[in-house]
Amino acid sequence: MGGQQELKGPDLSAGVEGAQLKDGEPLLGHANGEAIVLVRQGGEVCAVGAACSHYGGPLAEGIVEGGTIRCPWHHARFDLRTGAPTRPGRDAIACYRVEQRGGRVRVGERIAPARPATRAGPESVVIVGAGAAGNACAEELRRQGYGGPIAMVGAEGTVPVDRPNLSKDYLAGTAPEEWIPLRGREFYAENRIEVTESAEVTAIDPARREVRLSRGNPLRYGALLLATGAEPIRLSIPGAERALMLRTLSDSRAIVARAAEGRRAVLIGASFIALEVAASLRARKMEVAVVAPEPRPLERVLGPALGDFVRALHEEHGVRFHLGRKPASIDGASVKMDDGNVLPADLVVMGVGVRPRLKLAEEAGLRVDKGVVVDSSLRTSAEGIWAAGDIARFPDARGRPIRIEHWVVAERQGQHAARAMLGAKEPFRHVPFFWSQHYDVPINYVGHAEDWESIQVVGSIADRNCLVAYRQGGRVQAVASIYRDRESLAIEAAMERGDEGGVEALLRG
Ligand SMILES: Cc1cc2nc3c(=O)[nH]c(=O)nc-3n(C[C@H](O)[C@H](O)[C@H](O)COP(=O)(O)OP(=O)(O)OC[C@H]3O[C@@H](n4cnc5c(N)ncnc54)[C@H](O)[C@@H]3O)c2cc1C
Ligand code: FES
Repeated sequence: MGGQQELKGPDLSAGVEGAQLKDGEPLLGHANGEAIVLVRQGGEVCAVGAACSHYGGPLAEGIVEGGTIRCPWHHARFDLRTGAPTRPGRDAIACYRVEQRGGRVRVGERIAPARPATRAGPESVVIVGAGAAGNACAEELRRQGYGGPIAMVGAEGTVPVDRPNLSKDYLAGTAPEEWIPLRGREFYAENRIEVTESAEVTAIDPARREVRLSRGNPLRYGALLLATGAEPIRLSIPGAERALMLRTLSDSRAIVARAAEGRRAVLIGASFIALEVAASLRARKMEVAVVAPEPRPLERVLGPALGDFVRALHEEHGVRFHLGRKPASIDGASVKMDDGNVLPADLVVMGVGVRPRLKLAEEAGLRVDKGVVVDSSLRTSAEGIWAAGDIARFPDARGRPIRIEHWVVAERQGQHAARAMLGAKEPFRHVPFFWSQHYDVPINYVGHAEDWESIQVVGSIADRNCLVAYRQGGRVQAVASIYRDRESLAIEAAMERGDEGGVEALLRG
Protein backbone atom coordinates (compact mmCIF):
# COMPACT_ATOMS: atom_id res chain seq x y z
CA MET A 1 0.00 0.00 0.00
CA GLY A 2 1.38 3.36 -1.03
CA GLY A 3 4.60 1.48 -1.88
CA GLN A 4 7.73 3.36 -2.86
CA GLN A 5 8.52 2.91 -6.52
CA GLU A 6 11.98 1.91 -7.63
CA LEU A 7 13.45 4.63 -9.88
CA LYS A 8 13.37 3.46 -13.49
CA GLY A 9 13.63 5.06 -16.92
CA PRO A 10 15.33 8.30 -17.93
CA ASP A 11 16.36 11.12 -15.62
CA LEU A 12 13.65 13.59 -16.58
CA SER A 13 15.39 16.49 -14.84
CA ALA A 14 18.11 16.13 -17.51
CA GLY A 15 15.36 16.03 -20.14
CA VAL A 16 14.25 13.73 -22.96
CA GLU A 17 13.77 14.36 -26.66
CA GLY A 18 10.17 15.52 -27.22
CA ALA A 19 9.93 13.09 -30.13
CA GLN A 20 10.30 10.24 -27.62
CA LEU A 21 6.91 11.10 -26.16
CA LYS A 22 4.04 9.40 -27.94
CA ASP A 23 0.66 11.03 -27.58
CA GLY A 24 -1.31 9.42 -24.72
CA GLU A 25 1.52 6.95 -23.86
CA PRO A 26 2.85 7.46 -20.31
CA LEU A 27 6.67 7.53 -20.07
CA LEU A 28 8.10 6.41 -16.73
CA GLY A 29 11.19 8.24 -15.50
CA HIS A 30 12.37 10.11 -12.44
CA ALA A 31 13.58 13.48 -11.29
CA ASN A 32 15.20 14.56 -8.03
CA GLY A 33 14.77 11.09 -6.53
CA GLU A 34 11.05 10.81 -7.29
CA ALA A 35 9.36 8.44 -9.75
CA ILE A 36 7.48 10.48 -12.34
CA VAL A 37 5.28 9.81 -15.34
CA LEU A 38 5.51 12.16 -18.30
CA VAL A 39 2.50 12.36 -20.60
CA ARG A 40 1.85 14.17 -23.84
CA GLN A 41 -1.79 14.75 -24.58
CA GLY A 42 -2.56 16.93 -27.57
CA GLY A 43 -0.08 19.81 -27.52
CA GLU A 44 0.37 19.69 -23.76
CA VAL A 45 2.94 17.76 -21.73
CA CYS A 46 2.26 17.00 -18.05
CA ALA A 47 4.39 15.35 -15.37
CA VAL A 48 2.81 13.63 -12.38
CA GLY A 49 3.84 11.26 -9.58
CA ALA A 50 4.14 7.64 -10.75
CA ALA A 51 2.40 5.89 -7.83
CA CYS A 52 -1.36 5.80 -7.34
CA SER A 53 -2.44 7.28 -4.02
CA HIS A 54 -4.76 4.33 -3.36
CA TYR A 55 -2.45 1.30 -2.95
CA GLY A 56 0.55 2.52 -4.95
CA GLY A 57 -0.54 1.12 -8.35
CA PRO A 58 1.89 1.83 -11.24
CA LEU A 59 0.33 4.72 -13.17
CA ALA A 60 2.80 4.30 -16.06
CA GLU A 61 1.04 0.98 -16.77
CA GLY A 62 -2.36 2.67 -16.87
CA ILE A 63 -3.97 4.67 -19.65
CA VAL A 64 -4.39 8.35 -20.49
CA GLU A 65 -7.92 9.42 -21.35
CA GLY A 66 -9.82 12.70 -21.32
CA GLY A 67 -7.16 14.69 -19.44
CA THR A 68 -6.71 11.99 -16.78
CA ILE A 69 -4.24 9.22 -16.06
CA ARG A 70 -5.96 6.02 -14.88
CA CYS A 71 -4.60 3.41 -12.51
CA PRO A 72 -4.51 -0.18 -13.79
CA TRP A 73 -5.31 -1.78 -10.43
CA HIS A 74 -8.64 -0.32 -9.26
CA HIS A 75 -9.28 2.32 -11.92
CA ALA A 76 -8.63 5.52 -9.91
CA ARG A 77 -8.27 8.59 -12.13
CA PHE A 78 -6.10 11.63 -11.62
CA ASP A 79 -6.40 14.93 -13.42
CA LEU A 80 -3.13 15.40 -15.34
CA ARG A 81 -3.01 19.15 -14.68
CA THR A 82 -3.91 19.19 -10.99
CA GLY A 83 -3.35 15.60 -9.78
CA ALA A 84 -6.86 15.65 -8.25
CA PRO A 85 -8.28 12.15 -7.82
CA THR A 86 -11.49 10.51 -8.84
CA ARG A 87 -11.82 7.80 -6.25
CA PRO A 88 -10.51 5.39 -5.06
CA GLY A 89 -7.28 7.43 -5.06
CA ARG A 90 -7.36 9.19 -1.72
CA ASP A 91 -4.99 12.11 -2.17
CA ALA A 92 -4.05 14.10 -5.20
CA ILE A 93 -0.84 12.92 -6.84
CA ALA A 94 2.07 15.33 -7.21
CA CYS A 95 2.35 17.52 -10.31
CA TYR A 96 5.67 18.87 -11.63
CA ARG A 97 6.68 21.83 -13.73
CA VAL A 98 7.49 20.93 -17.35
CA GLU A 99 9.79 22.96 -19.61
CA GLN A 100 9.89 22.45 -23.37
CA ARG A 101 12.89 24.02 -25.07
CA GLY A 102 14.75 23.21 -28.29
CA GLY A 103 12.79 19.99 -28.82
CA ARG A 104 13.66 18.69 -25.31
CA VAL A 105 11.25 18.20 -22.44
CA ARG A 106 12.59 18.70 -18.92
CA VAL A 107 10.84 18.11 -15.61
CA GLY A 108 11.39 20.71 -12.90
CA GLU A 109 10.22 21.15 -9.33
CA ARG A 110 6.99 19.98 -7.76
CA ILE A 111 4.11 22.45 -8.15
CA ALA A 112 2.40 23.43 -4.89
CA PRO A 113 -1.25 22.35 -5.09
CA ALA A 114 -3.54 25.27 -5.84
CA ARG A 115 -6.04 26.11 -3.10
CA PRO A 116 -9.54 26.04 -4.55
CA ALA A 117 -11.37 29.35 -4.68
CA THR A 118 -14.18 29.45 -2.13
CA ARG A 119 -17.48 28.51 -3.73
CA ALA A 120 -20.99 29.31 -2.71
CA GLY A 121 -23.35 26.42 -2.15
CA PRO A 122 -26.08 25.21 0.17
CA GLU A 123 -26.17 26.82 3.62
CA SER A 124 -25.07 23.49 5.14
CA VAL A 125 -24.59 19.88 4.07
CA VAL A 126 -25.58 16.86 6.15
CA ILE A 127 -24.34 13.43 5.09
CA VAL A 128 -26.20 10.43 6.46
CA GLY A 129 -23.81 7.46 6.43
CA ALA A 130 -20.05 7.62 7.03
CA GLY A 131 -19.05 5.11 4.37
CA ALA A 132 -17.61 5.16 0.86
CA ALA A 133 -20.12 7.55 -0.70
CA GLY A 134 -20.52 9.80 2.34
CA ASN A 135 -16.80 10.27 2.81
CA ALA A 136 -16.17 10.90 -0.90
CA CYS A 137 -18.94 13.53 -0.91
CA ALA A 138 -17.49 15.38 2.10
CA GLU A 139 -13.98 15.42 0.64
CA GLU A 140 -15.15 16.52 -2.78
CA LEU A 141 -17.18 19.41 -1.32
CA ARG A 142 -14.01 20.76 0.27
CA ARG A 143 -11.89 20.05 -2.82
CA GLN A 144 -14.37 22.08 -4.84
CA GLY A 145 -13.99 24.99 -2.40
CA TYR A 146 -17.29 24.67 -0.54
CA GLY A 147 -16.83 26.67 2.67
CA GLY A 148 -20.08 25.96 4.54
CA PRO A 149 -20.62 23.51 7.38
CA ILE A 150 -20.47 19.77 6.63
CA ALA A 151 -21.75 17.21 9.14
CA MET A 152 -21.34 13.49 8.47
CA VAL A 153 -23.19 11.03 10.71
CA GLY A 154 -22.17 7.39 10.99
CA ALA A 155 -23.14 4.57 13.28
CA GLU A 156 -20.09 2.29 13.14
CA GLY A 157 -18.09 3.89 15.97
CA THR A 158 -15.20 4.83 13.65
CA VAL A 159 -14.29 7.31 10.97
CA PRO A 160 -15.03 5.91 7.48
CA VAL A 161 -13.00 2.76 6.79
CA ASP A 162 -11.52 0.99 3.79
CA ARG A 163 -14.33 -1.58 3.72
CA PRO A 164 -12.96 -3.76 0.86
CA ASN A 165 -9.84 -4.42 2.93
CA LEU A 166 -11.93 -5.92 5.75
CA SER A 167 -12.34 -9.22 3.89
CA LYS A 168 -8.90 -9.14 2.26
CA ASP A 169 -5.48 -8.18 3.67
CA TYR A 170 -6.74 -6.94 7.04
CA LEU A 171 -8.62 -10.18 7.65
CA ALA A 172 -5.71 -12.24 6.34
CA GLY A 173 -3.42 -10.48 8.82
CA THR A 174 -1.23 -8.85 6.18
CA ALA A 175 -2.49 -5.26 6.53
CA PRO A 176 -2.12 -3.44 9.83
CA GLU A 177 -5.08 -1.66 11.39
CA GLU A 178 -3.52 1.78 10.67
CA TRP A 179 -4.35 1.20 7.00
CA ILE A 180 -8.06 0.79 7.62
CA PRO A 181 -9.37 4.33 8.34
CA LEU A 182 -9.73 6.21 5.05
CA ARG A 183 -8.54 9.34 6.87
CA GLY A 184 -7.30 10.16 10.35
CA ARG A 185 -9.47 12.25 12.68
CA GLU A 186 -7.10 15.20 12.18
CA PHE A 187 -7.96 15.25 8.46
CA TYR A 188 -11.63 15.82 9.23
CA ALA A 189 -10.79 18.45 11.85
CA GLU A 190 -8.47 20.33 9.45
CA ASN A 191 -11.11 20.23 6.74
CA ARG A 192 -13.93 21.26 9.09
CA ILE A 193 -15.90 18.09 8.45
CA GLU A 194 -17.77 17.32 11.62
CA VAL A 195 -17.94 13.53 11.94
CA THR A 196 -20.34 11.93 14.40
CA GLU A 197 -19.01 8.39 14.68
CA SER A 198 -21.65 6.69 16.81
CA ALA A 199 -25.13 8.04 16.28
CA GLU A 200 -27.97 6.78 14.17
CA VAL A 201 -30.08 9.07 12.09
CA THR A 202 -33.59 8.10 13.15
CA ALA A 203 -35.65 10.31 10.82
CA ILE A 204 -35.43 12.80 7.99
CA ASP A 205 -38.00 15.57 7.75
CA PRO A 206 -37.82 16.96 4.19
CA ALA A 207 -40.41 19.68 4.93
CA ARG A 208 -38.34 21.16 7.79
CA ARG A 209 -35.02 20.18 6.18
CA GLU A 210 -33.96 18.48 9.36
CA VAL A 211 -32.57 15.11 10.45
CA ARG A 212 -33.07 13.61 13.90
CA LEU A 213 -30.40 11.56 15.62
CA SER A 214 -30.45 8.79 18.22
CA ARG A 215 -28.48 11.19 20.42
CA GLY A 216 -27.67 14.88 20.17
CA ASN A 217 -29.57 17.76 18.64
CA PRO A 218 -31.35 17.56 15.28
CA LEU A 219 -29.33 18.83 12.32
CA ARG A 220 -30.69 21.34 9.82
CA TYR A 221 -29.57 20.95 6.21
CA GLY A 222 -29.47 22.99 3.04
CA ALA A 223 -28.49 19.83 1.11
CA LEU A 224 -28.53 16.24 2.31
CA LEU A 225 -26.77 13.14 1.03
CA LEU A 226 -28.38 9.85 1.93
CA ALA A 227 -25.71 7.13 1.80
CA THR A 228 -26.76 4.46 4.26
CA GLY A 229 -25.27 1.55 2.31
CA ALA A 230 -26.38 -2.03 2.73
CA GLU A 231 -26.58 -4.60 5.49
CA PRO A 232 -25.73 -8.29 5.33
CA ILE A 233 -28.65 -10.71 5.15
CA ARG A 234 -28.99 -13.25 7.97
CA LEU A 235 -30.73 -16.46 6.88
CA SER A 236 -33.57 -17.53 9.12
CA ILE A 237 -32.38 -20.98 10.18
CA PRO A 238 -32.07 -22.32 13.71
CA GLY A 239 -28.87 -20.98 15.30
CA ALA A 240 -28.33 -18.27 12.62
CA GLU A 241 -27.52 -15.76 15.37
CA ARG A 242 -24.32 -17.73 16.07
CA ALA A 243 -22.92 -16.91 12.62
CA LEU A 244 -20.70 -13.85 12.26
CA MET A 245 -21.45 -11.34 9.51
CA LEU A 246 -19.02 -8.97 7.80
CA ARG A 247 -19.71 -5.33 7.04
CA THR A 248 -17.82 -3.24 9.59
CA LEU A 249 -14.38 -3.03 11.14
CA SER A 250 -15.72 -4.46 14.39
CA ASP A 251 -17.22 -7.40 12.42
CA SER A 252 -13.82 -8.07 10.87
CA ARG A 253 -12.09 -7.80 14.27
CA ALA A 254 -14.60 -10.31 15.68
CA ILE A 255 -13.76 -12.81 12.92
CA VAL A 256 -10.02 -12.33 13.56
CA ALA A 257 -10.56 -12.95 17.28
CA ARG A 258 -12.59 -16.11 16.71
CA ALA A 259 -10.14 -17.36 14.09
CA ALA A 260 -7.35 -17.09 16.65
CA GLU A 261 -9.24 -19.43 18.99
CA GLY A 262 -10.36 -22.09 16.50
CA ARG A 263 -9.19 -24.32 13.70
CA ARG A 264 -12.23 -24.96 11.49
CA ALA A 265 -14.36 -22.39 9.71
CA VAL A 266 -17.56 -22.82 7.73
CA LEU A 267 -18.57 -20.13 5.25
CA ILE A 268 -22.26 -19.99 4.46
CA GLY A 269 -22.65 -18.59 0.96
CA ALA A 270 -20.25 -18.45 -1.99
CA SER A 271 -20.52 -14.69 -2.61
CA PHE A 272 -17.49 -12.50 -3.39
CA ILE A 273 -17.23 -11.51 0.27
CA ALA A 274 -17.63 -15.09 1.53
CA LEU A 275 -14.91 -16.34 -0.82
CA GLU A 276 -12.56 -13.49 0.07
CA VAL A 277 -13.11 -14.43 3.72
CA ALA A 278 -12.34 -18.06 2.80
CA ALA A 279 -9.02 -16.98 1.23
CA SER A 280 -8.13 -14.80 4.24
CA LEU A 281 -8.92 -17.59 6.71
CA ARG A 282 -6.75 -19.99 4.69
CA ALA A 283 -3.95 -17.43 5.06
CA ARG A 284 -4.57 -17.84 8.82
CA LYS A 285 -4.19 -21.61 8.36
CA MET A 286 -7.80 -22.44 9.23
CA GLU A 287 -9.57 -25.40 7.63
CA VAL A 288 -12.28 -23.82 5.51
CA ALA A 289 -15.49 -25.29 4.11
CA VAL A 290 -18.02 -23.39 1.97
CA VAL A 291 -21.72 -24.34 1.91
CA ALA A 292 -23.87 -22.82 -0.84
CA PRO A 293 -26.91 -23.89 -2.88
CA GLU A 294 -25.62 -22.87 -6.31
CA PRO A 295 -23.77 -25.39 -8.52
CA ARG A 296 -20.81 -23.02 -9.04
CA PRO A 297 -19.50 -20.07 -7.05
CA LEU A 298 -20.07 -16.62 -8.59
CA GLU A 299 -21.75 -18.10 -11.69
CA ARG A 300 -24.62 -15.58 -11.59
CA VAL A 301 -22.14 -12.68 -11.97
CA LEU A 302 -19.17 -14.20 -13.80
CA GLY A 303 -20.64 -17.15 -15.73
CA PRO A 304 -19.77 -20.85 -15.59
CA ALA A 305 -16.18 -20.80 -16.87
CA LEU A 306 -14.92 -18.14 -14.44
CA GLY A 307 -17.07 -19.75 -11.71
CA ASP A 308 -15.27 -23.08 -12.26
CA PHE A 309 -11.93 -21.28 -12.26
CA VAL A 310 -12.67 -19.56 -8.95
CA ARG A 311 -13.75 -22.87 -7.42
CA ALA A 312 -10.58 -24.64 -8.64
CA LEU A 313 -8.42 -21.77 -7.36
CA HIS A 314 -9.92 -22.04 -3.88
CA GLU A 315 -9.65 -25.84 -3.94
CA GLU A 316 -5.96 -25.54 -4.86
CA HIS A 317 -5.61 -23.52 -1.68
CA GLY A 318 -7.37 -26.17 0.39
CA VAL A 319 -10.96 -24.86 0.58
CA ARG A 320 -13.63 -27.60 0.51
CA PHE A 321 -16.91 -26.81 -1.27
CA HIS A 322 -20.32 -28.26 -0.43
CA LEU A 323 -22.26 -26.86 -3.39
CA GLY A 324 -25.90 -27.64 -4.09
CA ARG A 325 -26.34 -27.73 -0.30
CA LYS A 326 -28.11 -25.38 2.09
CA PRO A 327 -27.35 -24.98 5.77
CA ALA A 328 -30.18 -26.39 7.90
CA SER A 329 -29.01 -25.29 11.36
CA ILE A 330 -26.02 -24.00 13.30
CA ASP A 331 -25.06 -24.99 16.82
CA GLY A 332 -22.12 -24.12 19.04
CA ALA A 333 -19.74 -26.48 17.25
CA SER A 334 -21.09 -27.33 13.83
CA VAL A 335 -23.22 -26.57 10.80
CA LYS A 336 -25.80 -29.15 9.76
CA MET A 337 -26.58 -29.24 6.04
CA ASP A 338 -29.92 -30.02 4.39
CA ASP A 339 -28.71 -33.54 3.46
CA GLY A 340 -28.13 -34.30 7.16
CA ASN A 341 -24.33 -34.11 6.98
CA VAL A 342 -22.62 -32.13 9.71
CA LEU A 343 -19.54 -29.91 9.32
CA PRO A 344 -17.55 -29.16 12.47
CA ALA A 345 -17.12 -25.42 12.93
CA ASP A 346 -15.31 -23.29 15.51
CA LEU A 347 -16.30 -20.27 13.44
CA VAL A 348 -19.25 -19.72 11.09
CA VAL A 349 -19.37 -16.69 8.79
CA MET A 350 -22.47 -15.94 6.74
CA GLY A 351 -21.95 -14.18 3.39
CA VAL A 352 -25.19 -14.62 1.48
CA GLY A 353 -25.64 -11.12 0.13
CA VAL A 354 -26.79 -7.73 1.36
CA ARG A 355 -29.94 -5.63 1.28
CA PRO A 356 -29.90 -1.85 0.86
CA ARG A 357 -30.83 0.17 3.96
CA LEU A 358 -33.95 1.95 2.72
CA LYS A 359 -35.97 2.51 5.90
CA LEU A 360 -35.03 6.17 6.39
CA ALA A 361 -35.83 7.00 2.77
CA GLU A 362 -39.15 5.14 2.88
CA GLU A 363 -40.22 6.80 6.12
CA ALA A 364 -39.26 10.23 4.77
CA GLY A 365 -41.57 9.64 1.79
CA LEU A 366 -38.82 9.49 -0.84
CA ARG A 367 -39.55 7.50 -3.97
CA VAL A 368 -38.23 3.99 -3.42
CA ASP A 369 -38.34 1.15 -5.94
CA LYS A 370 -35.74 -1.57 -5.30
CA GLY A 371 -33.50 1.28 -4.11
CA VAL A 372 -33.79 5.01 -3.57
CA VAL A 373 -34.81 6.29 -6.99
CA VAL A 374 -32.54 9.10 -8.23
CA ASP A 375 -32.24 10.99 -11.51
CA SER A 376 -29.07 11.24 -13.56
CA SER A 377 -27.72 13.92 -11.14
CA LEU A 378 -28.39 11.50 -8.23
CA ARG A 379 -31.22 13.71 -6.94
CA THR A 380 -34.01 11.91 -5.07
CA SER A 381 -37.71 12.78 -5.35
CA ALA A 382 -37.33 15.24 -2.41
CA GLU A 383 -35.97 18.76 -2.88
CA GLY A 384 -32.41 19.13 -1.56
CA ILE A 385 -31.81 15.39 -1.00
CA TRP A 386 -29.34 13.33 -3.04
CA ALA A 387 -28.62 9.60 -2.67
CA ALA A 388 -25.48 7.65 -3.55
CA GLY A 389 -23.82 4.26 -3.18
CA ASP A 390 -25.42 0.89 -2.48
CA ILE A 391 -28.90 2.38 -1.92
CA ALA A 392 -29.16 4.49 -5.10
CA ARG A 393 -31.16 3.24 -8.11
CA PHE A 394 -29.90 5.43 -10.92
CA PRO A 395 -30.26 5.53 -14.72
CA ASP A 396 -27.20 4.06 -16.47
CA ALA A 397 -25.79 5.49 -19.72
CA ARG A 398 -28.59 3.76 -21.66
CA GLY A 399 -31.27 5.01 -19.29
CA ARG A 400 -31.85 1.62 -17.58
CA PRO A 401 -32.40 1.91 -13.81
CA ILE A 402 -29.68 0.01 -11.97
CA ARG A 403 -28.46 -0.31 -8.39
CA ILE A 404 -24.84 -1.26 -7.91
CA GLU A 405 -22.98 -2.49 -4.84
CA HIS A 406 -19.38 -1.55 -5.70
CA TRP A 407 -16.89 0.53 -3.76
CA VAL A 408 -15.69 2.65 -6.67
CA VAL A 409 -19.24 3.38 -7.85
CA ALA A 410 -20.19 4.54 -4.34
CA GLU A 411 -17.16 6.83 -4.16
CA ARG A 412 -17.71 8.28 -7.63
CA GLN A 413 -21.38 8.86 -6.83
CA GLY A 414 -20.48 10.58 -3.56
CA GLN A 415 -18.21 12.93 -5.50
CA HIS A 416 -20.80 13.46 -8.19
CA ALA A 417 -23.49 14.34 -5.63
CA ALA A 418 -21.09 16.87 -4.06
CA ARG A 419 -20.60 18.63 -7.40
CA ALA A 420 -24.34 18.51 -8.10
CA MET A 421 -25.02 20.17 -4.73
CA LEU A 422 -22.74 22.98 -5.89
CA GLY A 423 -24.68 23.41 -9.12
CA ALA A 424 -22.95 21.04 -11.60
CA LYS A 425 -25.40 19.77 -14.18
CA GLU A 426 -23.63 16.89 -15.94
CA PRO A 427 -25.26 13.46 -15.59
CA PHE A 428 -23.57 10.59 -13.74
CA ARG A 429 -22.20 8.49 -16.60
CA HIS A 430 -19.42 6.43 -15.04
CA VAL A 431 -19.36 2.83 -16.15
CA PRO A 432 -19.55 0.54 -13.09
CA PHE A 433 -16.28 -1.07 -12.02
CA PHE A 434 -15.39 -3.51 -9.27
CA TRP A 435 -12.51 -5.70 -8.29
CA SER A 436 -12.22 -8.78 -6.14
CA GLN A 437 -9.08 -10.54 -4.93
CA HIS A 438 -8.67 -14.27 -4.36
CA TYR A 439 -5.16 -15.20 -3.14
CA ASP A 440 -2.82 -13.68 -5.74
CA VAL A 441 -5.51 -13.46 -8.44
CA PRO A 442 -7.35 -10.16 -8.92
CA ILE A 443 -10.58 -10.17 -10.94
CA ASN A 444 -11.59 -6.80 -12.42
CA TYR A 445 -15.00 -6.15 -13.93
CA VAL A 446 -16.28 -3.20 -15.96
CA GLY A 447 -19.87 -2.59 -17.07
CA HIS A 448 -22.98 -4.27 -15.78
CA ALA A 449 -24.60 -7.48 -17.05
CA GLU A 450 -27.60 -8.78 -15.12
CA ASP A 451 -28.06 -11.39 -17.80
CA TRP A 452 -26.37 -12.44 -21.02
CA GLU A 453 -27.03 -14.55 -24.06
CA SER A 454 -23.38 -15.33 -24.80
CA ILE A 455 -19.97 -15.20 -23.17
CA GLN A 456 -16.75 -14.74 -25.13
CA VAL A 457 -13.41 -15.67 -23.58
CA VAL A 458 -10.37 -13.91 -25.03
CA GLY A 459 -7.04 -15.41 -23.89
CA SER A 460 -6.96 -18.17 -21.30
CA ILE A 461 -8.80 -18.27 -17.98
CA ALA A 462 -6.65 -21.21 -16.82
CA ASP A 463 -3.47 -19.23 -17.55
CA ARG A 464 -4.90 -16.27 -15.59
CA ASN A 465 -4.65 -14.01 -18.58
CA CYS A 466 -8.05 -13.27 -20.04
CA LEU A 467 -10.90 -10.96 -20.94
CA VAL A 468 -14.40 -12.41 -20.55
CA ALA A 469 -17.13 -10.48 -22.38
CA TYR A 470 -20.84 -10.80 -21.56
CA ARG A 471 -23.19 -9.97 -24.48
CA GLN A 472 -26.90 -9.27 -24.47
CA GLY A 473 -28.88 -8.04 -27.47
CA GLY A 474 -25.69 -8.24 -29.53
CA ARG A 475 -23.89 -5.67 -27.32
CA VAL A 476 -21.10 -6.12 -24.84
CA GLN A 477 -22.63 -5.31 -21.45
CA ALA A 478 -19.65 -6.09 -19.26
CA VAL A 479 -16.11 -7.45 -19.36
CA ALA A 480 -14.33 -9.33 -16.57
CA SER A 481 -10.55 -9.64 -16.70
CA ILE A 482 -7.59 -11.30 -15.04
CA TYR A 483 -4.20 -9.63 -15.49
CA ARG A 484 -5.41 -7.62 -18.51
CA ASP A 485 -5.46 -4.34 -16.65
CA ARG A 486 -4.74 -1.96 -19.53
CA GLU A 487 -7.40 -3.54 -21.73
CA SER A 488 -9.86 -3.41 -18.83
CA LEU A 489 -9.17 0.33 -18.48
CA ALA A 490 -9.41 0.91 -22.22
CA ILE A 491 -12.71 -1.01 -22.44
CA GLU A 492 -14.11 1.04 -19.56
CA ALA A 493 -13.12 4.25 -21.37
CA ALA A 494 -14.66 3.04 -24.65
CA MET A 495 -17.88 2.07 -22.85
CA GLU A 496 -18.00 5.49 -21.26
CA ARG A 497 -17.69 7.12 -24.69
CA GLY A 498 -20.47 4.83 -25.97
CA ASP A 499 -17.94 3.47 -28.49
CA GLU A 500 -19.22 -0.07 -29.03
CA GLY A 501 -16.91 -0.56 -32.04
CA GLY A 502 -13.98 0.39 -29.83
CA VAL A 503 -14.98 -2.23 -27.24
CA GLU A 504 -15.23 -4.89 -29.97
CA ALA A 505 -11.85 -3.87 -31.39
CA LEU A 506 -10.23 -4.18 -27.96
CA LEU A 507 -11.71 -7.66 -27.59
CA ARG A 508 -10.25 -8.63 -30.98
CA GLY A 509 -6.84 -7.53 -29.68
C1 LIG B 1 -16.08 -6.89 3.51
C2 LIG B 1 -16.44 -6.17 2.25
C3 LIG B 1 -15.59 -6.21 1.16
C4 LIG B 1 -15.92 -5.54 -0.02
N1 LIG B 1 -15.06 -5.60 -1.07
C5 LIG B 1 -15.36 -4.93 -2.20
C6 LIG B 1 -14.46 -4.95 -3.31
O1 LIG B 1 -13.43 -5.60 -3.28
N2 LIG B 1 -14.78 -4.25 -4.42
C7 LIG B 1 -15.95 -3.55 -4.48
O2 LIG B 1 -16.20 -2.92 -5.51
N3 LIG B 1 -16.81 -3.49 -3.45
C8 LIG B 1 -16.54 -4.16 -2.31
N4 LIG B 1 -17.43 -4.14 -1.27
C9 LIG B 1 -18.68 -3.36 -1.40
C10 LIG B 1 -18.44 -1.91 -1.01
O3 LIG B 1 -17.77 -1.83 0.22
C11 LIG B 1 -19.76 -1.16 -0.95
O4 LIG B 1 -20.35 -1.20 -2.24
C12 LIG B 1 -19.58 0.29 -0.51
O5 LIG B 1 -19.04 0.35 0.79
C13 LIG B 1 -20.90 1.03 -0.56
O6 LIG B 1 -20.70 2.33 -0.09
P1 LIG B 1 -21.89 3.13 0.62
O7 LIG B 1 -21.32 4.46 0.96
O8 LIG B 1 -23.11 3.03 -0.19
O9 LIG B 1 -22.18 2.30 1.96
P2 LIG B 1 -21.25 1.97 3.17
O10 LIG B 1 -19.82 2.06 2.82
O11 LIG B 1 -21.75 0.68 3.73
O12 LIG B 1 -21.57 3.13 4.20
C14 LIG B 1 -22.85 3.29 4.74
C15 LIG B 1 -22.70 3.89 6.10
O13 LIG B 1 -23.96 4.36 6.55
C16 LIG B 1 -24.10 4.09 7.92
N5 LIG B 1 -25.52 4.13 8.28
C17 LIG B 1 -26.52 3.36 7.82
N6 LIG B 1 -27.70 3.74 8.35
C18 LIG B 1 -27.42 4.79 9.16
C19 LIG B 1 -28.22 5.63 9.99
N7 LIG B 1 -29.53 5.47 10.08
N8 LIG B 1 -27.59 6.59 10.68
C20 LIG B 1 -26.25 6.79 10.59
N9 LIG B 1 -25.47 6.04 9.80
C21 LIG B 1 -26.04 5.03 9.10
C22 LIG B 1 -23.47 2.71 8.05
O14 LIG B 1 -23.15 2.41 9.39
C23 LIG B 1 -22.25 2.90 7.17
O15 LIG B 1 -21.19 3.45 7.87
C24 LIG B 1 -17.12 -4.81 -0.09
C25 LIG B 1 -18.00 -4.78 1.01
C26 LIG B 1 -17.68 -5.45 2.18
C27 LIG B 1 -18.60 -5.41 3.36
S1 FES C 1 -3.89 1.17 -6.49
FE1 FES C 1 -4.62 2.60 -7.91
S2 FES C 1 -6.72 2.44 -7.80
FE2 FES C 1 -6.05 1.06 -6.29
